[in-house]
Amino acid sequence: MSDLEYRKKVYSSLATINTNKGESYYRKLLSKCQKRIDKLKKRPAFNNENYMQTLGEEGYNRRDFIKWVSATTAALMLPGSFEPLVAQTIEVINRVPVIWVNFQDCAGNSEALLRADAPTVDELILDIISLEFHELLMAPSGDAAETQLEDAMREFKGDYLLFVEGSIPLAENGVYGTIGASGETYVDHLKRVAADAAAIVAVGTCATFGGVPAAAPNPTGATGVMSIIKDKPIINIPACPANPANMLGVILMYAMSGEIPELDALKRPLFAFGRRIHDACERRVHFDAGNFVEAWGDEGAKLGYCLYKMGCKGPVTFNNCPTTKFNKGASWPVAAGHGCIGCSEPGFFDKFQRFEAPTPYNKSNNPAADPISDIPFISTVGLI
Ligand code: SF4
Ligand code: F3S
Repeated sequence: MSDLEYRKKVYSSLATINTNKGESYYRKLLSKCQKRIDKLKKRPAFNNENYMQTLGEEGYNRRDFIKWVSATTAALMLPGSFEPLVAQTIEVINRVPVIWVNFQDCAGNSEALLRADAPTVDELILDIISLEFHELLMAPSGDAAETQLEDAMREFKGDYLLFVEGSIPLAENGVYGTIGASGETYVDHLKRVAADAAAIVAVGTCATFGGVPAAAPNPTGATGVMSIIKDKPIINIPACPANPANMLGVILMYAMSGEIPELDALKRPLFAFGRRIHDACERRVHFDAGNFVEAWGDEGAKLGYCLYKMGCKGPVTFNNCPTTKFNKGASWPVAAGHGCIGCSEPGFFDKFQRFEAPTPYNKSNNPAADPISDIPFISTVGLI
């Protein structure tokens, strides 16, 4: 089989994941989660936010919440019997302390967490989590901020989820990124804050794989958390920025079960990264039928044809953007008419830099002219 035929076969197939682990698995998990929630209920709440009041202030009622619980349970790849537990977990989610640190990035993931307006239920629930430290969002600065971090690390030792946003520069002994009056390097800061975390969530592509700061020639030696921290559970939520729904999914699974969610080989939660963009894309029917946009703004573009020949990286990118979407479910990149640029894959940005170049792919039948012919897609497609 030629390289071209092989790629056509892989791109035309559907990635599958096991979403049914059997009755006895779910029975055991259910009982474990109930015990965990009962334990959390005995802990004092770290803040007084009332989730129903918070939702009500934005116009959501109990019925909206129940609909959200059903959708979220399904999105987490859990059967309907878990819905009451998901609802109960929201009542105790503010008993799981979260510390959030920022390193080398644009703070886009914090922006995504904050959202400007029209928040979804996911985003509102993120408002009530116990965010014990987030230097961009909290009032204290300078010494007071450092004291707050020390206090949070001491009070919640061994129990907090550490969210890390941004890459970590390692070149020249890490001097490209320092924090605080002592000039502690980002890498030393990360190691210190990670030491007493229960688990680490690397949020955004910079914290997971290095992202844009690691693009060639990578003068700062930027890298992701998992290449530095080796002795802690790490959950990667890549994308530029990460979707708040996936951040909440990870916190919710951890609060409910006391464990990190099931991960793929790149430490990404399967509930969010188990399928390719290409597998849930609304333009997929056009890919299979051979209807492609050939130039920006052409007739095919107006008809919503597939963007593959315009460089779409959906066939080699794992993420749930087509189903989770952004801006209150309004849209996502491919729906907006721009192909996926593979922002949640390792090697982004360099690996996908030729995104905009139209290609004579079908006309020449030449794999070398295919905009994604040089991508080692086996490493991602072969994950599941
Ligand atoms: Fe696949 Fe991209 Fe075409 Fe959608 S637009 S079907 S993700 S190649
Ligand atoms: Fe990124 Fe592609 Fe989704 S560019 S936001 S992974 S559609």
